[in-house]
Parts: sequence; C-alpha cells; structure tokens
Amino acid sequence: MNQIPKNFYRYKQNPLWNNQTLPAWFTNKHNTKAWVYWNIVVYKWALKYTSFDSENWNIDWELIINTWEEWVSLPQKWHKVEPIWDVEFVLEFYKEMDESIYKLKQDFDEKIPWFKTHYEVEYIASLIEDRKNKKALDLWAGSGRNSLFLANSWFEVHSWDKNTNWLEFINNKAKENNLNIITKETNLNKNFVLDNYDLIITTVALQFLEKIPAKILIKSMIEKTIIWWYNLIIAPIDAPDHKCPIRFPNLPTYEEYLNFYKDWEIVYTDNYYWKFHVVDENWNKIVSRFATIIAKKTS
Ligand SMILES: C[S@@+](CC[C@H](N)C(=O)[O-])C[C@H]1O[C@@H](n2cnc3c(N)ncnc32)[C@H](O)[C@@H]1O
Repeated sequence: MNQIPKNFYRYKQNPLWNNQTLPAWFTNKHNTKAWVYWNIVVYKWALKYTSFDSENWNIDWELIINTWEEWVSLPQKWHKVEPIWDVEFVLEFYKEMDESIYKLKQDFDEKIPWFKTHYEVEYIASLIEDRKNKKALDLWAGSGRNSLFLANSWFEVHSWDKNTNWLEFINNKAKENNLNIITKETNLNKNFVLDNYDLIITTVALQFLEKIPAKILIKSMIEKTIIWWYNLIIAPIDAPDHKCPIRFPNLPTYEEYLNFYKDWEIVYTDNYYWKFHVVDENWNKIVSRFATIIAKKTS
C-alpha cells in the first residue's frame, strides 16, 4: 500500500465525481506531476485502478478500490481509473509542506506522538514568527491535539471544553511535557470570549451549539482577536450539493461562515469533503462538507 509522506499535506480536492461528471482523461492512461501524490477516496460503488510500468507499458498493479477505501497514486506514476457502476469519489492532491511547518510538526511528534494536529493549526503557527508570549485560545479543545501542538510551539494556550475528563487529560499531558496550558471548564452555549487573544481556533465543534449562542460566540471571537492576528474555523456545513447527514443544531452555509470575516483578510479557505470519525447505523462513514477559514484581522 502506497503511503503519503508525513511532510505532505492536502492542498486541493476535486469535486465529487460520478460516471457523468468524471473527465475522459481520467479513464485513459495519465500520470501525476512530480512531487504530487493523489489520494483517491471512493464514497459509493467502486473504481478499477490500473498502473503501468512506463518503460514497457506492462501493467504493474491492478486493483479494485471499494466504497470507503482509499488508494494513493505515487508522483509521476502512469495509471488509469475506470468507474464501476454508479461510483462516487473524490480526488485529493498532496504536496510537500514548508520546512518551517514540518519542523514544528516533527518536534511535536517526537515529544507527544500519536496526536494528529489539524494541518491548518500547524500552518497558522508557522505564520507567527515570534510565538513566545502569544496567547492562543482553543475553544472545544477535546483531546487537546491542537492545544498541545500550539503550546509545544511556544504559545500560552487557553483550552476550553465542557468535558472535564478531556481537560484533566490535557492538564496531565501539559505537566508531563512542561507546556504552558490553562484549561477551563466552559459550556459554550452560555459563555463567550471576554479577553483578548492573538489566535482563536475552533475545530469540528461549532455544530454542537445552538444557532444564537454560536453567532454570539463567533462575534466575540472576532471582537476579541488582537489586530493583525488570526482566527481559524473548521466546521461542518450545509451545502447546496450535500446537506450534512448528521442534523446538528448549528449548520450554517459556507457563505454564512465567510460572511463573519468579510472585514478581515482571508488567508486560506476551502469547503472540501471530509469524514467524521463516527459511522451511521449501517457502519458507513459519514461525509460532510466542512468550512475551513483562516482569517487575519486587519482593522
Ligand atoms: C469533535 S470534538 C472536537 C475537539 C477538537 N476541537 C478537535 O478538533 O480535536 C468536540 C468537543 O466539543 C465539546 N463540546 C461540545 N459541546 C460543547 C459546549 N456546549 N461547550 C463546550 N464544549 C462543548 C465536546 O466536549 C468535545 O470535546
């Protein structure tokens, strides 16, 4: 099984393709650019993947990628992909991350292995050169994968969550690794941001709030971010082509999330498909579009 190297990140995703929409070149022999890995993720039915040894054009791999399976195509590998029945799939593109980001990631992985920080958090940390004494707020810290990474990258981190078991876990990890993290038990349906921060992040959590408290919270994030510094939102959304299958109380559209940041500089944004860790009653993975927004306050 081919692997995407650890220092690569997903930088692009194609729309959901099916029999009608997939381009003709995809089913003919083609290759990938140097230093770009493709990850093919099948959401419905299957694809037949055939790769070739480019010297004599013999077939060197032939396999079926079934529903929920993924297959990594190596850079410059000649291959073709044929649909099986009523297939739906996406193609994701991975390229090498900047060395400064990988350094932060490597340092964290060595100290606290097994935590998979969001790439966007690694990226945002690398944007801020002098991170010592910068204050970051991780709303809904969960297992602390983002809080611990930020603290290991020299931020003073404030981690909020309503789950005291997670907060205790984060406290223990912070103590073990001498990291500057202050945890707080908070119900974010009732509280919002009151102090100023350089970085405020909320990943895969805004969906749990009621609509009105969510709006008040985002407005407080916007108001309490220090000028020239950042917010990161990653949240499932309702999109015209794909409603989030889990009907959370708060599912704005991508445009609604972007609209909160209309007066900020948008450093990065996408609304790609992503899988939840949970499965449905038939053990199928659940896919939603997620809004990802990195924004910088400029006025
Ligand atoms: C899916 S986890 C995401 C955690 C983390 N941001 C990440 O990306 O790994 C969602 C977290 O939201 C917390 N949560 C849900 N509703 C909340 C609320 N009303 N107030 C505070 N935390 C809440 C849960 O305890 C859980 O830790």
